[in-house]
Amino acid sequence: MRRIVIAGSTGSIGTQAVDVVQRSPELEVVGLAAASNAELLLEQTRALGVKRIALADEAAAARASEAWTDGQVLAGTEGLVELIVESGADLVLNALTGSAGLGPTVATLGEGIDLALANKESLVVGGELVMALAEATGAQVIPVDSEHSALYQLVGGEAPGTVDRLVLTASGGPFRGRSADQLEDVTVEQALAHPTWEMGGRVTVDSATLFNKGLEVIEAHHLFGTPYDQIDVVVHPQSIVHGLVHLNDGASLAHLGHPDMRVPISYALHHPERADVAVGTLDLAKVGTLDFEAPDENAFPCLRLAREAAQAGGTAPCVLNAADEVAVHAFLDGELPFTGIPRVIEDTLRALPARPLRHFSDLYEADAEARRHAAGAAV
Ligand SMILES: NC(=O)c1ccc[n+]([C@@H]2O[C@H](COP(=O)([O-])OP(=O)(O)OC[C@H]3O[C@@H](n4cnc5c(N)ncnc54)[C@H](OP(=O)(O)O)[C@@H]3O)[C@@H](O)[C@H]2O)c1
Repeated sequence: MRRIVIAGSTGSIGTQAVDVVQRSPELEVVGLAAASNAELLLEQTRALGVKRIALADEAAAARASEAWTDGQVLAGTEGLVELIVESGADLVLNALTGSAGLGPTVATLGEGIDLALANKESLVVGGELVMALAEATGAQVIPVDSEHSALYQLVGGEAPGTVDRLVLTASGGPFRGRSADQLEDVTVEQALAHPTWEMGGRVTVDSATLFNKGLEVIEAHHLFGTPYDQIDVVVHPQSIVHGLVHLNDGASLAHLGHPDMRVPISYALHHPERADVAVGTLDLAKVGTLDFEAPDENAFPCLRLAREAAQAGGTAPCVLNAADEVAVHAFLDGELPFTGIPRVIEDTLRALPARPLRHFSDLYEADAEARRHAAGAAV
C-alpha cells in the first residue's frame, strides 16, 4: 500500500486523482486538503475513509469541523503544512494552483517525502531551491503535467549526455491562428473554452495566452537540468503527442496518448509501477492527422516574456508568475482585457528587475511586491 496525501483534491487535477485512487487497490489516502470547498472535501473524506483534512480558509475549516466529527480538520496555510508533515505519507500530490503551492512542496520535500507535482508554480517560482532541497533529502519529484510526465518517461530510459533537445507540445488554445488585433475583444467565456483539455480557470486562461507553455519551459529546465536554449515549444492542436526528445544519434522519441490527465496522474501516483487506467487505446488511423506549427510569439507575447524572465533568473520567474496570477484574476473578473494580461506582466517585470535568490523568504517578498505592482498595473 502506498500512503498518499492529495493537496488540492477538490480541483480539476485533485478530483481526477481521487478517481484514480478509487480504482487502485495499491493507494491509500491519508490526508486531503483544499482552500474553501468544504462540502466537496467532506464528501471525498467520507468516500475515502480519511481521518485528517485541511482547509486553507479558516471559515470553511470551521464549517467542516461542525459538519464532520469523525476526524480532525486543520485550518489555514499552516494547517496544510501540518497535515503533510505529520501524515506519514509515502507520497504527496500537490495539485494546488498558483504560488500557494510552494509551501506544501517545501514541506513535502523537507520531510523527504516523494512529491507528485502538478503545481508547476513551485518550480517556476523556486526551482533551484526546490530541486536542491529534493536532492538534499533524497525525495523524488515526479511530474504530473502531461508534457513533463511524457518527457520524464522518455528521458528516464536514456544514458546521461544522450538527450540533445526537449520539445514541449502546446495545443495553441482556443485562439490559435488569431492575430494580435483579433485578440483585442475576446471574452472570458471564449478563453475558458479550451479545445482539448478540461482544467481549472487559471491554467485554462494561461493556455489561451500561451503563458502556461512559458511556465512549462521553466518547469522542464528545473526538472531535467536542461539549458533553456535546448527546450523547444511546438504547437500541436490535437494534443496527442505530449512530448518529444531529440537524441545525439539523430533519433527522436515521442510520447503519445489521448489528452486525459488521469494517465499522467496515475503514472505519478504509481511510479515506478504502472496501473490500469480506463482510457481507450489510441487509434492513429482514427486520429488521422497530427499537425504541428511554430508558436506565434507576436500574437501571444507571454511565451517570450516567460523565456526572458527565465533567462534573467533570480526573482524574475517569481515576479513573472505573480504578475500573471493577478492579471488572470483581473481578466476573469472582467476588469482587464485579454490583451492586458501580457501588458501587466511586462510592466511588472520591467518595474521589478531580477534580484539574486538566497533563501525561500526572498521569494515570498518578491511574490508580494509583484502582486502589489501588478494590481496597480491591472486597473
Ligand atoms: N487541470 C489540469 O488539467 C492541469 C494540467 C496540468 C497541470 N495543471 C496544474 O495543476 C495545478 C492545479 O490545477 P487545477 O486545474 O487542478 O486547479 P483548480 O481546478 O483551480 O484546483 C485548485 C485546487 O487547489 C485548492 N487550493 C487553491 N489554493 C489553495 C490554498 N491556498 N491552500 C489549499 N488549497 C488550495 C483548491 O481548493 P478549492 O476548491 O477549495 O478552491 C482546489 O482544490 C496548477 O498548477 C496547474 O497549472 C493542471
